[in-house]
Amino acid sequence: MKVLVVGNGGREHAIAWKLSQSPLVSELYVAKGNAGLWEIAKKVDISPTDVEALAEFASKEGIDFTVVGPEAPLVAGIVDEFEKKGLRIFGPSKEASQLEGSKAFAKKFMEKYEVPTAHYSVFDDFDRAMRYVKDVGAPVVVKADGLAAGKGAVVCFSEDQALKTLENFMKKGALGGAGRRVVIEEFLEGEEASYIVMVNGDRYVPLPTSQDHKRLLDGDRGPNTGGMGAYSPTPVIDGEMERRIREEVIERTLDGLKREGIFFRGFLYAGLMITSEGPKVLEFNVRLGDPEAQPILMRVRGDFLRMLLDFYEGRDVGIEEDPRWALDVVIASRGYPEKPEKGKVIEGLDEVKSLRDVVIFHAGTTVKDGKVVTNGGRVLNVCAYGDTLKEAKEKAYEAVSKIHFEGMHYRKDIGDKAFRYLDRGSSSRRS
Ligand code: AMP
Ligand code: GLY
Repeated sequence: MKVLVVGNGGREHAIAWKLSQSPLVSELYVAKGNAGLWEIAKKVDISPTDVEALAEFASKEGIDFTVVGPEAPLVAGIVDEFEKKGLRIFGPSKEASQLEGSKAFAKKFMEKYEVPTAHYSVFDDFDRAMRYVKDVGAPVVVKADGLAAGKGAVVCFSEDQALKTLENFMKKGALGGAGRRVVIEEFLEGEEASYIVMVNGDRYVPLPTSQDHKRLLDGDRGPNTGGMGAYSPTPVIDGEMERRIREEVIERTLDGLKREGIFFRGFLYAGLMITSEGPKVLEFNVRLGDPEAQPILMRVRGDFLRMLLDFYEGRDVGIEEDPRWALDVVIASRGYPEKPEKGKVIEGLDEVKSLRDVVIFHAGTTVKDGKVVTNGGRVLNVCAYGDTLKEAKEKAYEAVSKIHFEGMHYRKDIGDKAFRYLDRGSSSRRS
């Protein structure tokens, strides 16, 4: 089978890596990919958001199955374009992608179908938004309505910060059109976790649980990013919590979609705050998380392409989880997330490749003069397996220590939040 993966990041490298292990694959393509992806897949020189050109390519080339990584092509209607041409593609339609594409849509939907989430209000008018913030005070969370690549949500601990954020988003157009409308949300306290399921209409299959590290710096300080590291599974979601997430979040959402007449097929990602009252949805994404996909797919056993195809065709599939832990440390460029540097030569990749239980997924990398160089904010995902989380962490950081490029930055505390849970014994798993 000819299989196409759409996207350029670490998540797409992990998807392609997993798919490439399937005996069903005859040729694997990636649009556009990165230096790591081009080692395992043929480069298609079309931007992931040029959805018409991609459908045209897939049709001409006879691509049998396409998997979409990022949100932008989904929100731009890549699935609709492919389906018009009778091509099989795993991802939600443009309509269903609004769950991620518009925070206001997602919040209204959650309210209507009683999916637990933070209280909120939506504003198009700057003065009214300001008055509201003055009314409710801090802490409060200001979110841009549209897609903003992880930069659209600001947790504001002072009223002043909230007002400045409103001004940036609504007046100064800091996020372009995405921030003209804002959602202002109640601040939730708790522990974050990511719960991702594969959906086909009213069927769904949970993938392994995971936890992302959204802030740039150790101890959850600094600005929000796309994600600086992740591990799977997470003890933040124990058996009872998973039952509640399935019932209160996933099943209510799928039921709501059905009632709205919106067909959803693809990955549905619930970004959750596990609060003292239970799970609450911070955001929905209509795709796998990045970096969560990396440790998740490392732990999915078996032929993932077979699973996706069977599931796509409406058959039930089970996910068998590798009992080991997997942990991913993201290495980013100096200047990320604001203005990442590019073009720095990366050293140590060959040495790391030979390490046992270590897997590298490229993100912002490219090839220049025969060398692998940095080409974006998040550059590499250094991942490792371990029989314990501690072992996975040690192996991943050992590998990180062998990699070098000028200005590289990474968090040193990926996974540490889990140790607090494991030490408290809230999970039967060994730490
Ligand atoms: P979002 O893009 O909506 O997932 O928000 C990005 C990040 O901001 C989340 O991962 C949280 O760390 C934080 N955040 C968002 N909404 C809230 C909230 N209501 N309360 C506390 N933190 C939040
Ligand atoms: N890591 C968070 C996301 O993919 O949205």
